[in-house]
Amino acid sequence: MRTHYCGDLREEHIEQSVTLCGWVHRRRDHGGVIFVDLRDHRGLVQVVFDPDAEQTFALAESLRNEFVVAVQGRVRRRPDDTANADLPTGQVEVLGLELQVLNRASTPPFQLDDEDVNEEHRMRYRYIDLRRPEMQQRLRLRARVVRALRSFLDAHDFVDVETPVLTRATPEGARDYLVPSRTHPGSFFALPQSPQLFKQLLMMSGLDRYYQIVRCFRDEDLRADRQPEFTQLDIETSFMDEAAITGLMETMMREVFAQVLDIALPDPFPRMTYAEAVHRFGSDRPDLRIPLELVEVADLLQQVEFKVFAGPAADPQGRVTALRVPGGGALTRKEIDTYTDFVGRYGAKGLAYIKCNDVTQGRDGLQSPILKFLPDEAVTGILQRSAAENGDLVFFGADRASVVNESLGALRVRLGHDMNFVEPGWRPLWVVEFPMFEWDAREKRYTALHHPFTAPIGAAPDALLADPGTAISRAYDMVLNGTELGGGSIRIHTPEMQQAAFEVLGIASEEAREKFGFLLDALQFGCPPHGGIAFGLDRLVMLMSGAGSIRDVMAFPKTQSATCLLTDAPSVVPEEQLRELGIRLRVPAGQRAVDEVE
Ligand code: AMO
Ligand code: AMP
Repeated sequence: MRTHYCGDLREEHIEQSVTLCGWVHRRRDHGGVIFVDLRDHRGLVQVVFDPDAEQTFALAESLRNEFVVAVQGRVRRRPDDTANADLPTGQVEVLGLELQVLNRASTPPFQLDDEDVNEEHRMRYRYIDLRRPEMQQRLRLRARVVRALRSFLDAHDFVDVETPVLTRATPEGARDYLVPSRTHPGSFFALPQSPQLFKQLLMMSGLDRYYQIVRCFRDEDLRADRQPEFTQLDIETSFMDEAAITGLMETMMREVFAQVLDIALPDPFPRMTYAEAVHRFGSDRPDLRIPLELVEVADLLQQVEFKVFAGPAADPQGRVTALRVPGGGALTRKEIDTYTDFVGRYGAKGLAYIKCNDVTQGRDGLQSPILKFLPDEAVTGILQRSAAENGDLVFFGADRASVVNESLGALRVRLGHDMNFVEPGWRPLWVVEFPMFEWDAREKRYTALHHPFTAPIGAAPDALLADPGTAISRAYDMVLNGTELGGGSIRIHTPEMQQAAFEVLGIASEEAREKFGFLLDALQFGCPPHGGIAFGLDRLVMLMSGAGSIRDVMAFPKTQSATCLLTDAPSVVPEEQLRELGIRLRVPAGQRAVDEVE
C-alpha cells in the first residue's frame, strides 16, 4: 500500500499521488487547517488536511503523537514563504485526501525530539527511543560496517565459523557468566569471554583463516565503553607473523572507513612500543589527537628537600613527571582544585603546579606553592625540559609509576578536552611490545597482560621461567583516538612454551591439565604457528558514529549495573526451576540492587 517513504519526497514528486505510512511526529492546528509531520525511518514530511474533505479532516483532528497512519494524497509545492530549508522534504507537502489510522498510541513517555530524556527512561522504552533519527542512523551505520568487514574478510579467504556459547571458562581476565547444567547438577557452563581457545583450535584444524562476529560475555565493572555482553570481530590466521597480520588488519580498517564514512585513514598506521606510549602519554592507548606529553623530571629532583618529589624520584618503582599546559596560566585556583580532585580518583595524593608568568625572570616570574622547596637548577631544568612559555602552567605527578601514569595520563586527556586541544581527525596507531606479565603485588603473583596464550619475543621456555618480569610479548593493540579498538597476538604453539607460561602464572601442571588439557593435547598433534586479533565492534561503531557510549550503538544495551530495563532481566525464577537445577538460594529471592545508569 505504501508508494514512497516520507523522507524521500522532493520537488520531482510534485503533482504525484502518493501513499505514505508512518508515525505522527507532530500535529498542529492552524486556522482551520491541520498540519501533520509524518515520520518514517527516512525522515519527516508535512501532510496538510483541509476541511473540504470533511470526513478525513475529522479523523485528522483525532490524531495524536505516535499514532500509526496511512495517508493517500497529492504532493504539491509549498508556498515560498512556508518552505522549510532545514528539512530535506521542506520544498513540498502532501495534501491529505484519505487517512487511515492503523493504530492508536497512548501518550508517549517522552517526546522524540526532547534532548534531555534520562537514559534509564530511554532504555525502558527502547522501542520508542530507537525511533529517533540518530538511533536509526547508528543502527544502520552499524549494519553497513558489518557488511564492509564481512566483504573484506570474505574477499581475503577468511572462513566464518561459529563457536559454542555454552562452554568452559575462557580466561580474559573478567568474571564469568555461569549457566547451571540440569543434566549434571552442580556443574556449570561458562559463557565465553571470547572464543580465544576455539579459534586457536580451528587453526590446529587447518582452517587457515577464521573470522566470526561473535557475542562475548564478561561480568566486569561497566563503563561508557564496556558492556557485559558485547560483540567482537574475532580473527585468527595461520603462518602469518605480526607484521603480516597487523598490515592486513589496518588495510581492512582503511577500507571500512573509506567505504562507510569516506574517510582516508593513514597508511601505514604508526607503531609505538608500550614503553614509549606509557612514557610519553601515561597510557597504552594514547589519544594522539591531544598534543600534550609527559616529560621525565625525576633526575632533576632526586636531591631536593621536597619529599613529595625526592622520594619517588629516587625510587626505581617511582616516577616524577611534568605536564606542560599551554595557556594554563589562566587556570583559576578553583579549576586547579577540580583537577586535583580528578587525579585523586586515580590515587594521586596531590597535584603540584608552577604557573609561568614570565619565564625570563627566573623564580620571580613564577607562581607556585612548591617553588620554595626547589633549588634554582631544578626550576631551570623543569622549565627547559617542559619547554614552558609565558602564560603556561606545568603540572607535576610524583608517586609510584603506575599511579603517575594513570592519573597524569587521564589528566592529559581531560585537559585536552576541557581546553580544546583535541585536534580534529582520526589518529590510529598500533601499540606493540607489551610486557608478557604484570606483577600483582597484592596477590603476589604474575598475571598475563594480554592472555596466557600469547607468545614471548625471542625467549625460550626456560628463559621465560628464569626471568618472567622482563619478557616482552608478541601482542599488538590497535588504538584509535584514545580507545582500544582491538587487541591480539602471535600465540604460543608448542606445549613446552605453553606449560612454561602456565607455570609463570602459577597454574600448576595439574590445574593446567584440568582446565586446558584439550589445548595442551592439541598442541601435540601438529599445531601451525598462528596468531590473530579481536576488535570491539561496538567500540568501532561508537567512534565511527560519534556516539558517546557503546550503549548508543547497541539496540538493547544493559545498564551500568548489568540489567535490562526493558525486559527487567535478570529476574527471579520459580523455586521449581531451581530445584531441577539442583540450586538452593540463600539470598532471599527478589533482592536486587538499585539500578543506575552511568
Ligand atoms: P581483548 O580482551 O583485548 O582480547 O578484547 C578485544 C576487544 O574487545 C573489546 N572489548 C569490549 N567491548 C565492550 N565491552 C567490553 N566489556 C569489552 N571487553 C573487550 C575491546 C577489545 O580491544 N581473545 C582476545 C583477542 C585475541 O587475542 O585475539 C581478546 O578477547 O575493543
Ligand atoms: P603538600 O606539601 O602536601 O601541601 O603539597 C604541596 C603541593 O604538592 C600541593 O600543590 C600538592 O597538591 C602537591 N602534591 C602533593 N603530593 C603530590 C604528589 N604525589 N604528586 C604531585 N603533587 C603532589
